Amino acid sequence: MNVLVVGATGHLGLKITRELIAAGAQVRVTHRASSKPEQIAQLRETGAELVIADLADSASLVRACSGVAVVVSAVQGMRDVIVDGQTRLLRAAEQARVSRMIPSDYALDFFKTPDGGNRNLDLRRELNRAFDGSSVRPTSVLCGAFMDLLALGAMGPDPKTHVYRVYGDPDQPYDFTLTDDVAKYIAAAALDTQAPRMLRVAGDTKSPRELAAVFEEIWKVPVTLEVAGSVADLDAQIERMRAADEAPANPFPLWQRMQYARDMASGRGLLTPLDNARYSHIQPTTIRDLLARPR
Ligand SMILES: NC(=O)c1ccc[n+]([C@@H]2O[C@H](COP(=O)([O-])OP(=O)(O)OC[C@H]3O[C@@H](n4cnc5c(N)ncnc54)[C@H](OP(=O)(O)O)[C@@H]3O)[C@@H](O)[C@H]2O)c1
Repeated sequence: MNVLVVGATGHLGLKITRELIAAGAQVRVTHRASSKPEQIAQLRETGAELVIADLADSASLVRACSGVAVVVSAVQGMRDVIVDGQTRLLRAAEQARVSRMIPSDYALDFFKTPDGGNRNLDLRRELNRAFDGSSVRPTSVLCGAFMDLLALGAMGPDPKTHVYRVYGDPDQPYDFTLTDDVAKYIAAAALDTQAPRMLRVAGDTKSPRELAAVFEEIWKVPVTLEVAGSVADLDAQIERMRAADEAPANPFPLWQRMQYARDMASGRGLLTPLDNARYSHIQPTTIRDLLARPR
């Protein structure tokens, strides 16, 4: 099968490209003229066919889509990329008679969270509406938070103080999938002509209380679980921070990260039911396995 990966120079895009090639697909990847040379070199090493395309340039996208059965997007950005750019990619795919597309969704279940609650996920929901009436069939791959964030200390207990501060119910389950496994599921869905409209997968699902216990076991130190407030308290804090930072220079300000935390703490973004069994050859990494890996 001929697959096009857009955003292949990115962290996830390169992993998807490798998985598709390992699965025997014919893979074409895009990079921009401005993409970093070392990332282009890594892509070249995969054996994929490289073409230059930019989401801002429709003609380049139509050329990239020519002869392709499935488009996989792994782009990252704001409205100009996620909504405008990927809509241009969808229109190019229609023109090139591509059958299917996997948009760059890869998050908690934003089809169940409310409009206005999470800036980045609002953009992804808006893009998905562009598929209504399209000849290109979409599959949204939903995978929860990237599990790597737990190992990096960007989520979960503070690696220095061993305090895990959460909002809401500490027994609320959260979904996580390691980026390597996300790439495997995306590749499997790309090569599955019957892939569903939404594919909900998770490598592991654990509540903050369960997570604290896993960290205690691996770190061999007590972890203090601290409930900082209710989900309503988190709402109020996000609104205060957002009002003070309407046009942030940083595209991923703290209030945006807290919006993800709210979608998890409220349980609204929980992935259910899970579709892991559709691709049972993928045995995803658990949180315990990941944390126990030697560094
Ligand atoms: N669930 C989670 O916890 C989680 C965590 C992280 C990421 N994600 C999601 O995973 C997806 C990929 O993220 P990532 O971290 O792999 O992103 P990344 O490393 O920042 O890569 C972004 C890619 O988008 C490309 N791109 C940006 N603007 C473009 C344009 N105008 N035209 C063509 N290509 C463009 C970049 O190309 P250049 O190399 O040319 O810049 C790069 O290949 C996103 O949807 C992101 O939200 C989810």
